Amino acid sequence: MRMYDLIYAKKSGQALSFDAIDYWAKGVADGSIPDEQSAALLMAICWQGMNTEETIALTLAMRDSGRIVDLSDVPGTKIDKHSTGGVGDKTTLVIGPVAACCGKDAGLSCAMFSGHGLGHTGGTVDKLASIPGMRTELSETEFLECLKSIGFANSAQTRDICPADRKLYALRDISATVESIPLITASIMSKKLACGADALVLDVKSGSGAFMKNQTDAQKLADSLVAVGKAHGMKVKALITPMDEPLGWAIGNALEVMESVEILNGRHADSDLTKLCFRLAAEMLVLGGAATDTDVARKMVSSAIESGRAFETLKKFVSFCDGDAEALNDPRRLPQAREQVTIASPQSGTLKSIDSRVLGVFAMNLGAGRKKQSDALDPGAGIRLHVKAGDRVERGQTLFTAYCRDKSMVMAKEILMGVKFEDD
Ligand code: URA
Repeated sequence: MRMYDLIYAKKSGQALSFDAIDYWAKGVADGSIPDEQSAALLMAICWQGMNTEETIALTLAMRDSGRIVDLSDVPGTKIDKHSTGGVGDKTTLVIGPVAACCGKDAGLSCAMFSGHGLGHTGGTVDKLASIPGMRTELSETEFLECLKSIGFANSAQTRDICPADRKLYALRDISATVESIPLITASIMSKKLACGADALVLDVKSGSGAFMKNQTDAQKLADSLVAVGKAHGMKVKALITPMDEPLGWAIGNALEVMESVEILNGRHADSDLTKLCFRLAAEMLVLGGAATDTDVARKMVSSAIESGRAFETLKKFVSFCDGDAEALNDPRRLPQAREQVTIASPQSGTLKSIDSRVLGVFAMNLGAGRKKQSDALDPGAGIRLHVKAGDRVERGQTLFTAYCRDKSMVMAKEILMGVKFEDD
C-alpha cells in the first residue's frame, strides 16, 4: 500500500477501504508515514468527506492505535459525558458528582476521561489542576478504585490512549483541518471508546464559539457521533446546545472551580450553566438506567444538590486525588490572580450578544489557556462576566473583570470587540 495512492483516491472523491484507513492510522502511530502525506490526506478528507463506513473504520483504527481501558471490574453501567468544546463550560465538575450520587442505587457510576484546553476552549483537566495538590492523571488501578468507592472518577487521558489521534490532532491544528465532521467524529469517538464507558451523553456545541457554527452542521456532527458510537455497541445520546456566549459567569480555571462549587451549593439556580447541568445530568441518568424519564431525573438532580450530597462527592473525589478539598469550602485557598482590571461599558443600551470565541481567546491570552502546547497556565487568570446577552447596561457600568498577572495584559478594546448592543 502507498500513501500516495490513498491521497490520490480521496482527492478524487473515492471512498477508502477499511485496510487503507487501518494502514494510515498504524503508520501515523508508529511514525512511518511522513506528516506532509498525512496532512495532504487530512485536507482531502476535509474537501471530499468520508462516508459512515470510512468514519467507523477510522474511529476503530485510532482506538486500536493505543491502550484500551478495561472498566469491566466495576459492576453496573459506566457513563461518560463529552462536550465538543466550549468557553466557560465547567459542567463536568457539577454533573460528574451529581450523576454519581443519583446513580448509586441503580448501579450507575460516572467514569470520565478529560482533556486539557484546546485553543480558546477550556478543558476539565486544567480546571481540576488549579485545586492545590490535585493529581489529574490517575493510574488505571487508582481510577477503578475511585470509581468503585466514590461512583465518580475523572482522569486526564494518558498519552498511550489513541496516540494516532494525538498526532493527527496536532497536524489538524496547524493545517486548518480541524473542522471536518468525519475527522471530529473519529477523534472524539476513538478516545471515548478507548476509555471503556458503556454509555455516553454528548454535548454538541453550536454557535460562534463552537467548531460547528450553525444548527445544521451541529446536527450532522451529532448524527455522525451517535452512528459511530452505536455501531460499536455504545449507548449514545447527543444534545445540541448553544455556544454563542460563554456559559455561566466565569472563564478561567480556578474561577470555574469556584463557580462549579457555587452551583453544587445551590446558587445560580436560573443561570444558563445550571440549566445545562440539569439537562445533561438528567440525560445521563435516563441513558444509564437510573431514571425512567427526564422529569424524574431532574428531581433526583435537585435533591442531590439540595441535600449537599453532590458537593460532598466532589470533595471526596478531590481528596482521593490528593487535592485540597478544604479549598472547595474556602475559595481563598484556590490560586488567585495577582491583578484585577475592570472593563466598563462604552455606552448605554441592551446587550445583543457576547461572543464566546472573543472572550475565550482573551482569557487564553491572560494565561487561562495555552497558545501552544508548551505554554504554562496561570491558574488564577480569567474573566468574570457581570452581564449576559439581553441585559440592559449603562455607560461606565462594569461588564467584565479580568484576572491576570500584569495589568498591561488587558486591552479593553479587544474584549469589547466581542460585545454587541441591540442598536449596533
Ligand atoms: N475534540 C476532539 O477531541 N477532537 C476534535 O477533533 C474536536 C474536538
